[in-house]
Amino acid sequence: MSSKIIVLMGAPGAGKGTQARLIQERLGLPQISTGDMLRALATEDIHTTQASGRLISDAVVIDLVRQRTAVDDCLNGYVLDGFPRTIVQAEMLDQMAAAEGKPLKAILIDVAASVLEKRLTGRRNCPVGNEIFNIYFKPPRTDSICDEHGVPLRQRADDTIDKVQVRLETYEKQTAPVIDYYKRTGRLEIVDGDQETETIYEDLKKIVTKE
Ligand code: AP5
Ligand code: MG
Repeated sequence: MSSKIIVLMGAPGAGKGTQARLIQERLGLPQISTGDMLRALATEDIHTTQASGRLISDAVVIDLVRQRTAVDDCLNGYVLDGFPRTIVQAEMLDQMAAAEGKPLKAILIDVAASVLEKRLTGRRNCPVGNEIFNIYFKPPRTDSICDEHGVPLRQRADDTIDKVQVRLETYEKQTAPVIDYYKRTGRLEIVDGDQETETIYEDLKKIVTKE
């Protein structure tokens, strides 16, 4: 598989994190999740903004991505999960891809809006390894406990119904234009995200491994 940048696009709850983790485990492309990276920063105003469902400034996020993609494990390509989310971020990524000499493929995980609410309000995460569960669709073996690390699962601050509404609006306003941007430039593929996780993975794998 040649070195490339994979951009996983999709609404909040579409399954970007779930699929990026599988691609990382099985195809060896590191997952770069700006949401996870921002949550790991101990900065109060970032946490407040994240919890509100609005976006962090382009400058902060671009800086994080620049630093992370400069690490050696990204030499053979990487998967971006949750970036770019604005046209400014997409343009910066194009510059970076050109400088690195890596082609870019954007893949939209397409999920009907009616499915997203249960995915988000039912999600629970492991505070140790960030494993993703769902009380409706992917429950842990023991109630509220991570299968992998045996610690209590947590709910994200932005996974409440009122915050989900803000995130969906933010997505429509600021991130949907990025999907059009990739479509216009002939770099967008679409997979049906309303299928079993493994079926979606197989669809993605075909696109990711295609030369
Ligand atoms: P981020 O963490 O990126 O959140 P998001 O885009 O809202 O996406 P999610 O993580 O909620 O969903 P996902 O698509 O990863 O779905 P998952 O696999 O978990 O961003 C959070 C915040 O950080 C932003 O609001 C912003 O403040 C800030 N931020 C991040 N990036 C930024 C950027 N570039 N610029 C500015 N600000 C930025 O799945 C969801 C649930 O569904 C899980 O419970 C899972 O188990 C379940 N599920 C997954 N697939 C399936 C399936 N096939 N069938 C049934 N259930 C499924
Ligand atoms: Mg995610």
